[in-house]
Amino acid sequence: MHYTKINKESCIACGLCQLIAPDLYEYDQDGIAYTKKDDNKGIIAVENDELDVFKKAYTSCPTGAILRSNTPFE
Ligand code: F3S
Repeated sequence: MHYTKINKESCIACGLCQLIAPDLYEYDQDGIAYTKKDDNKGIIAVENDELDVFKKAYTSCPTGAILRSNTPFE
C-alpha cells in the first residue's frame, strides 16, 4: 500500500502535482498542495489505478514535498 501527504513547508506552490494527479492533490488558498482525499493526513491509501499518476507527481515535484510511505502517516 502507498500513502501520501504534502510537506507543506517544502511546497512552493508550483502546481505540478495537481495538474498531474487532480484526484490526489488539491491546493489551498495560498496555492500550497494537500492530499484531497484525507485533508493531508496521509491515511487513505492510493488506489492501484492511481499509482502511475502518483509516481509521476512525486517524481515531478521540484522540492520533494510529496511524502510517501508504505504505512499510514497517522
Ligand atoms: Fe507543491 Fe510540489 Fe505540488 S511544490 S504544488 S507539492 S508539485
